[in-house]
Amino acid sequence: MTLSLSRVAKTFAGGTKALLPTDLTIAPGEILSLLGPSGCGKTTLLRIIAGLEQPDPGARVLFDGEEVTALPVERRRIGMVFQSYALFPNMSVRANIGYGLKMQGLARADIDARVDEVTALCQLQPYASRAVTALSGGQRQRVALARAIAPRPRVLLLDEPLSALDAALRGQLRDELALLLRSFGITAIFVTHDQDEAMAIADRVAVMRAGQVAQIGTPETLYRNPTSGFVARFVGGAMPLRGRVTGDHLHLPGGALRLRPGAAGQQVFVRAEDIRLDPEGPLAARVEAVTFLGTHYRLALSGAAPDLLTALHAGHSAPRPGEAVRLSIAPDALLSLPAEDHA
Ligand SMILES: Nc1ncnc2c1ncn2[C@@H]1O[C@H](COP(=O)(O)OP(=O)(O)OP(=O)(O)O)[C@@H](O)[C@H]1O
Ligand SMILES: [Mg+2]
Repeated sequence: MTLSLSRVAKTFAGGTKALLPTDLTIAPGEILSLLGPSGCGKTTLLRIIAGLEQPDPGARVLFDGEEVTALPVERRRIGMVFQSYALFPNMSVRANIGYGLKMQGLARADIDARVDEVTALCQLQPYASRAVTALSGGQRQRVALARAIAPRPRVLLLDEPLSALDAALRGQLRDELALLLRSFGITAIFVTHDQDEAMAIADRVAVMRAGQVAQIGTPETLYRNPTSGFVARFVGGAMPLRGRVTGDHLHLPGGALRLRPGAAGQQVFVRAEDIRLDPEGPLAARVEAVTFLGTHYRLALSGAAPDLLTALHAGHSAPRPGEAVRLSIAPDALLSLPAEDHA
């Protein structure tokens, strides 16, 4: 299903503009992630698509070209998965998965066949007759997903479905969920404030800020070509290099860096993986802290820029805290972006 939003905005009673007019089109089978900090309007946008929230006048929500803006949630044929899975605790796994089908008034045999199919797809056969209260967090998450897709929704809406899980399980389920969603072949919108999650799961990511889509694109596009400091910081954690630009040089407390031509009047950012320890490098810095991360070391560096910089260093050894080092950053690795209105 193609999902289109045209001028979708939401002003809550009291005047909070949760969402400014937003246009968005999602292709059939596409998985789009809404990524952004708390309060930027992700859930509001998802609830408007679901029909749980009415947008401001003038907004249009289209499912395959058909206007559904005024259609109530139960007539939109959507599947939803929330942060708290909201499973029915007094029902078995099978009964949870079959719930929506039963509500549709399907015949027993049809319900059983579809429940079998979805149970297998979500690898829940071993737990099918268990009570949902006797499942782990990750298993519950799969039941919530199975229940949402069983009635063959036209679009699947997921609001931070992994956030109730601990970090280790979250990472594992992230990749599992990415594979499952692809295997469903269904148009899906996945809300998260976790950059890694958005990048692992989505075909395209819409980065939201203060009720607006700041930038939308593939994970690679957002990472390589952010159009604002906000997106550069949020995707890939770019750090600002606050300095003075003269000609093609950026002057920092630790030394001067050469910029690509045309970077004047812009704000310059760098990512941790692009800062290199280099005895010949133009920037002087002091190592403040060293963290061993297995595949590399993370260094906290002072003195090079007004702010503390983080660098990733992939050697077999690292300098010690207190050591003086020199750094280089390739001109191509510096992101020159329009100056931000506020940080
Ligand atoms: N029912 C409501 N009445 C008034 N204001 C609301 C209501 N629901 C949300 N808001 C406000 O709208 C803004 C956007 O909220 P929303 O829940 O969409 O954010 P979010 O991006 O999902 O955040 P989070 O990551 O914390 O879930 C917030 O400022 C919030 O306080
Ligand atoms: Mg939310």
